[in-house]
Amino acid sequence: MGRELGWRWRVAAWWAVVAVAVGGAGAGLLESNPGLAYNFYQTTCPNVDSIVRSVTWAQVAANPALPGRLLRLHFHDCFVQGCDASILLDNAQSEKTAPPNLSVGGYEVIDAIKTQLEQACPGVVSCADIVALAARDAVSYQYKASLWQVETGRRDGPASLASNTGALPSPFAGFNGLIQSFAARGLNLTDLVVLSGAHTIGKASCSSVTPRLYQGNSTNVDPLLDSAYASRLMSSCPNPSPSSATVDLDGSTPLSFDNNYYINLQNKQGALASDTALTQNAAAAQIVNDLTNPTKFYAAFSMSMKKMGRIDVLAGSKGQIRKQCRAVNTS
Ligand code: HEM
Ligand SMILES: *[C@@H]1O[C@H](CO)[C@@H](O)[C@H](O)[C@H]1NC(C)=O
Ligand SMILES: *[C@@H]1O[C@H](CO)[C@@H](O)[C@H](O)[C@H]1NC(C)=O
Ligand SMILES: *[C@@H]1O[C@H](CO)[C@@H](O)[C@H](O)[C@H]1NC(C)=O
Repeated sequence: MGRELGWRWRVAAWWAVVAVAVGGAGAGLLESNPGLAYNFYQTTCPNVDSIVRSVTWAQVAANPALPGRLLRLHFHDCFVQGCDASILLDNAQSEKTAPPNLSVGGYEVIDAIKTQLEQACPGVVSCADIVALAARDAVSYQYKASLWQVETGRRDGPASLASNTGALPSPFAGFNGLIQSFAARGLNLTDLVVLSGAHTIGKASCSSVTPRLYQGNSTNVDPLLDSAYASRLMSSCPNPSPSSATVDLDGSTPLSFDNNYYINLQNKQGALASDTALTQNAAAAQIVNDLTNPTKFYAAFSMSMKKMGRIDVLAGSKGQIRKQCRAVNTS
């Protein structure tokens, strides 16, 4: 408990330093910025931050699974055709209908936020920005302080195709596959190890884990897993597992956005094969070790989230501001 409070305090203190640095820099455009800015809506929708936060916090208070859902929603949006809210579109062939959608969720939170924003400032705030802001605020609920800053100014894309989700990294990927997937989006080794730290919260379907535990009807445990941890995974995910069965991605502190993910990795307790893969490359393992320091983790996560939030964004006059997030505007 004392350790928990210590971390909370350190997060708050670290955040105060960042907030001063950002304010002092004048909230301007950064180098190689695709057209985003902090406080993009300062004059056009000055209450955007408080509206997004109040809706998100109210929903998270009622549903502790939402931080994981909303953080993953932002990741999937950005990795498939850029951060353009294409993941939100409802239509027969949309990204949502592809198999990796299974545990993606939080759509109703985005809708609730959009409804309020359309009342406060109609036609101004993009759904892509709402996804990015809601991910930040869902995670911040635990600390009542944001762990990272979000640039805004994204616009919404016109299309969504389930076939594009093949571009998402697989939970069964080895180190090289993961590196390639991230490199294709301008993200490097550091970003891969840092952003994988999002798996400090949330759940995976057993189907993402059981290939590490069983082969056919027999037990066949991945030798890279700690055996006591593998037994715990097997009790959450029997063979066969009900399709609704899940397992915590962070088996030690599943609801806390902390650095235990990296300590788990060092203890051979990464839930997904793609988590364990980060310990199988010397340079990655060194970064894992660095990130067992919580201050370093929060600072690094903030930087890499900014990079992820810039992937192939539509800015300026590209794209559109959807009137509702599940459909493109018809004009
Ligand atoms: C490195 C490559 C990655 C792979 C292979 C991967 C794969 C997965 C898989 C398979 C799940 C469980 C889905 C299920 O079985 O239901 C999951 C959950 C999750 N992922 Fe990742 N992921 C990766 C990177 C990321 C990144 C970069 C983020 C965010 C920055 C992220 C955030 C999450 C979150 C928060 C969950 C929990 C979702 C929930 O509780 O609803 N992941 N990921
Ligand atoms: C997710 O994909 C499956 C197909 O794999 C589909 O049956 C299901 O309806 C999709 N879920 C949503 C919310 O679209
Ligand atoms: C990844 O990029 C960041 C800057 O975005 C840089 O600070 C870091 O050193 C890079 N990491 C590697 C392993 O190249
Ligand atoms: C696995 O077990 C099920 C029943 O539990 C049985 O129907 C099936 O034939 C078994 N498969 C193999 C490969 O032994």
